[in-house]
Amino acid sequence: MSKARVAIVTGAGNGIGRASAIEFASRGMKVVVGDIDEAGGRETVGMIAEQQGEAISTYMDVSDEQSVKDAVKLALDHFGGLDIMYANAAIELQKYIMDIEVHEWDKVMNVNLKGVFLCSKYALKHFMQQRSGVILITASPHALCTYEEISAYAASKGGVVAFNRALALEAAPYQVRVNCIMPGAIDTPMVQREIAASSDPKKLRETLERMHPIGRMGRPEEVAKAAAFLASDDASFITGASLAVDGGILAKL
Ligand SMILES: NC(=O)c1ccc[n+]([C@@H]2O[C@H](COP(=O)([O-])OP(=O)(O)OC[C@H]3O[C@@H](n4cnc5c(N)ncnc54)[C@H](O)[C@@H]3O)[C@@H](O)[C@H]2O)c1
Repeated sequence: MSKARVAIVTGAGNGIGRASAIEFASRGMKVVVGDIDEAGGRETVGMIAEQQGEAISTYMDVSDEQSVKDAVKLALDHFGGLDIMYANAAIELQKYIMDIEVHEWDKVMNVNLKGVFLCSKYALKHFMQQRSGVILITASPHALCTYEEISAYAASKGGVVAFNRALALEAAPYQVRVNCIMPGAIDTPMVQREIAASSDPKKLRETLERMHPIGRMGRPEEVAKAAAFLASDDASFITGASLAVDGGILAKL
């Protein structure tokens, strides 16, 4: 029997990260569930255990270098390896540019962009030695087109997509693949918070649904299945790509 692969999923205490951790575990991977929300992380591990999967949760702040190094070390010490780094965690900031404070801008960049850099760097260090590995990144359609009041998030995701390409080039000689996913609006706590904070939550939900040519928002599990595909050997010739999992939103003018 081949050795089980080991994955770190960041932001796996909820939403897309949680669904991905569960999907990975259901395919026999051992998963390190990394999140600043420790209770959420433990809950994800519990859900995986219920399905006879194997996972461990850890406090992991992707914007903190030591915290990222510790998570990689945990994967190596606890599960004896690391094969997949899914840099998924990010935060949103809904504000007009004129109202964004510098510390708020910095926080978004630190989590969304520096976090992806740190997770990639410390996973790649290990992957270069073993001459295999997969890095996945959750980007967003906001990298390519956007609307008002979300500039910091959009800029961070644009950075992530550019970084995805550069990282893919540097990783390829070591047989390490790097890809990002662009999810449409996915019904997770991130979007649920956005809907709840709006002046007309019902209207915003309907607008978000209609925005997608497919006529609805996505489910976290639908992104998780794309991530599992990109992590698998079925995607062995795919690197440097951005895969839209967006109900057609990016196809629309
Ligand atoms: N939900 C969507 O519609 C949507 C669309 C496009 C892209 N995305 C992207 O998908 C990813 C996941 O989003 P989601 O909707 O599941 O969000 P979510 O808010 O539901 O979950 C994000 C998780 O990340 C964790 N997190 C926040 N800061 C962290 C940090 N510094 N270190 C580690 N963990 C941290 C949170 O505690 C939370 O558990 C993000 O990169 C987001 O930008 C989401």
